[in-house]
Amino acid sequence: MEARYEKLGQFYLGKKYDLEARRLLDELVLYDSKDLTTHAVIIGMTGSGKTGLGLVLIEEALIDGLPVIAIDPKGDLTNLLLTFPKLSAEDFAPWVNPQEAAEKGMTVEQYAAEQAELWRRGLAEWHQGPERIQRLRDAAEMLIYTPGSQAGLPVSMLRELSPPSQAVLQDPDALRERLVGTTASLLSLIGITGDPVRSREHILVSNLLQHSWNQGKGLTLAELIRSIQKPPFQQVGVFDLEEFFPARERLELSLRLNNLVASPGFSAWMEGDPLNIPRFLYSSNGKPRASIFTLSHLSEAERMFFVSTLLNEVVSWMRSQPGTSSLVAMLYMDEVFGYLPPTANPPSKMPLLTLLKQARAMGLGVVLATQNPVDLDYKALSNAGTWFIGRLQTERDKERVLDGLEGAAAHAEFRRDQVDRILSGLGKRIFYLHNVHEPQPDIFQTRWLLSYLRGPLLGDQIRTLMSRAKESRVPPPEEQKPAPAAVSRPSVELETQAPLAPVGIRTYFVPPRSEAEVTYLPYLIGYARVRYQSPRHHLDTVQETLLAFPLDDGPVPVLWDQPVELPHQPKDLLQEPEPGASFAPLPPEARRSDSYAKWQRAFSLYLGQNRALELTHLADLGLTSKPGESEEEFLARASQAMREARDEAVEKLRAKYAPRFTSLQQQLLRAEQALQRELEQAKMAKLQTAVSFGTAVLGAFLGKKKVSATSATRLGSALGRASRARAEEMDVARAQERVEALRQQLDQLQQAFDEEVQRIQTQYDAQNLRRERIRISPKSSDILLDFFGLGWLPFRRTATGTLEPAF
Ligand SMILES: Nc1ncnc2c1ncn2[C@@H]1O[C@H](COP(=O)(O)OP(=O)(O)OP(=O)(O)O)[C@@H](O)[C@H]1O
Ligand SMILES: [Mg+2]
Repeated sequence: MEARYEKLGQFYLGKKYDLEARRLLDELVLYDSKDLTTHAVIIGMTGSGKTGLGLVLIEEALIDGLPVIAIDPKGDLTNLLLTFPKLSAEDFAPWVNPQEAAEKGMTVEQYAAEQAELWRRGLAEWHQGPERIQRLRDAAEMLIYTPGSQAGLPVSMLRELSPPSQAVLQDPDALRERLVGTTASLLSLIGITGDPVRSREHILVSNLLQHSWNQGKGLTLAELIRSIQKPPFQQVGVFDLEEFFPARERLELSLRLNNLVASPGFSAWMEGDPLNIPRFLYSSNGKPRASIFTLSHLSEAERMFFVSTLLNEVVSWMRSQPGTSSLVAMLYMDEVFGYLPPTANPPSKMPLLTLLKQARAMGLGVVLATQNPVDLDYKALSNAGTWFIGRLQTERDKERVLDGLEGAAAHAEFRRDQVDRILSGLGKRIFYLHNVHEPQPDIFQTRWLLSYLRGPLLGDQIRTLMSRAKESRVPPPEEQKPAPAAVSRPSVELETQAPLAPVGIRTYFVPPRSEAEVTYLPYLIGYARVRYQSPRHHLDTVQETLLAFPLDDGPVPVLWDQPVELPHQPKDLLQEPEPGASFAPLPPEARRSDSYAKWQRAFSLYLGQNRALELTHLADLGLTSKPGESEEEFLARASQAMREARDEAVEKLRAKYAPRFTSLQQQLLRAEQALQRELEQAKMAKLQTAVSFGTAVLGAFLGKKKVSATSATRLGSALGRASRARAEEMDVARAQERVEALRQQLDQLQQAFDEEVQRIQTQYDAQNLRRERIRISPKSSDILLDFFGLGWLPFRRTATGTLEPAF
């Protein structure tokens, strides 16, 4: 049977724990996933169960269809891939720690059998069976990335310092933040950690980046090193460049960067998936991903570089997201020590603060774990809506946490001495949960993990886990795009003057990318605006395109099968060629103006026939992907829309069931008290109060925010007041009947609730959506050719004498 807590955006964290009686209660602690949009911190000493709790949150998120990005400085989160639905000793054997086995005087096989049994029992005690492990495996794709190493999936970090999204480029504050962030991360890698506002290195590098990004281009490290020596500008602010940062000293900086590029391990930073947040969140067929970035193999500087670069990327991604009230994704960081300190300002701090302040509106929940609360920036902490506090090491840690809690609970009642006592009594895996969205704090023990928590994995083990993923990995679109082919053409005489276009035909020169000597080849060039309309798909959009086709002096004068899509804007095109350039001759047909009228018609025809928009349509939701939106981005958007609808349905369900549930529970409580009285008077055995698991779940679900905690009021208070001595069997029987009847009513309510939940669940399951590819061709009247003429595209001669594109 599928467990009943498996529902509706509730995270099953564990069960309530009675600190005084030192006893686990049979009351589930469910956490409303929406609450995570105000972020959470997990604080506790080593061994208190922080990573265990973090993994619980990640498992719950994934089961609920939410993608997770997890930063794993210590290597424990890789355990998320150790899920064995059969719970068999053979499955555990390759992964148990042989040293632990030896310490226990067991063979690996014996120890594996013991661990498998431990997991089976542990899970069963927490109402979880093997099918839940399977469910977790089916729900998400789990990937281990190892930046700077080939053990897991590599991440390409330094191939290019790419410009951020348009959303960031167009927002001056965000752009500045991004420039400072990228520069600081890069410089931290070569040990320069100066103040971004004052350090010369920072200012120069961020200016160089900005210069490149403004032109819509990224900057490779090689290009950066060159342009540090030869910047494309002479002024920095009001200063003359040479005065501000003399060439001799710039050389020093470029040498340090060059040493980095030349270092043996460097190539590992260049390979693999680029940092592309949507791809870390969803696979191309829309499955949520858990992208685990494990960093234990890196030096401290490298770790800082990676974490800050990734976080900056997440900030940029976040800025391009639409607002939502639901949880869309989770960012978990397992050990945040050193990344968000109170006074120092490492490059990771700014993006973390930005996320904590702003990610809420975009539904990104940030969860940070640490064993050292004194190391955390106080202001950042006050942004967290959920606090999980485990056993703490020192008084100082406790005082610090109490200060923070007091701040976070500013407008609610907060009894410091009481919380102080609670915190002092917490044991392993037991957490004090303070959630600003809930009326009361909870004390709970974390549920048993579905994943086998065995501790950090070794490089070889990660390699084994990821080898299958590597084989089946589809290269990212950037890698699939064929590089523009080198052309070996002109063996013909080149000309030193641009051949003249026929009368009435305009000529455009495409600007070259760099300053090398340029050879221009002739093309037809056109700039078109194409409108696509499909009322059925709520689509009306205009796409702009600058397109060129080679002109050839063979039998076919225009090579329509070799289109070149240019990234330039019309305003980038030049009227004059580069000085000193050479030109291929113009084929005879291209020297006659009447050819162009013919070609112009063919150009429009080409657009009509070859430029259909291919989009994805989800009929159930009435959603269509946008042009330029990747499949991952679209499916993410769709599942977000669905999640919002589901959360709304859940709220309605709560509003509908809570009053009936509360009222029935109160009646039941009174009936049970009455029965108890009758039993006592009849000198019979005590009543067994059985809270069935089902109603406990319903209670935990409805108990959120709406119902006061009646179930917490235990039997007993009324017992002593029984005064009259009426020990009649009849009364006992009647009271018993009443209790039975009410229990039945509760059961029925539970059933009705289950059915509605099931309905909502299927209705809003992203996996059930039918996807349809649609093609929308433009009508010929919707193709507007803004200009059309002769275009000269720049090429560069390579060492082997062929020409390669320089545009
Ligand atoms: N939810 C859980 N289910 C099963 N075992 C758990 C769970 N949580 C913790 N444990 C066990 O407790 C041990 C310590 O827990 P955990 O690694 O989470 O502590 P921690 O607070 O992250 O410690 P550190 O600061 O050293 O990383 C784990 O190795 C594991 O054996
Ligand atoms: Mg840990």
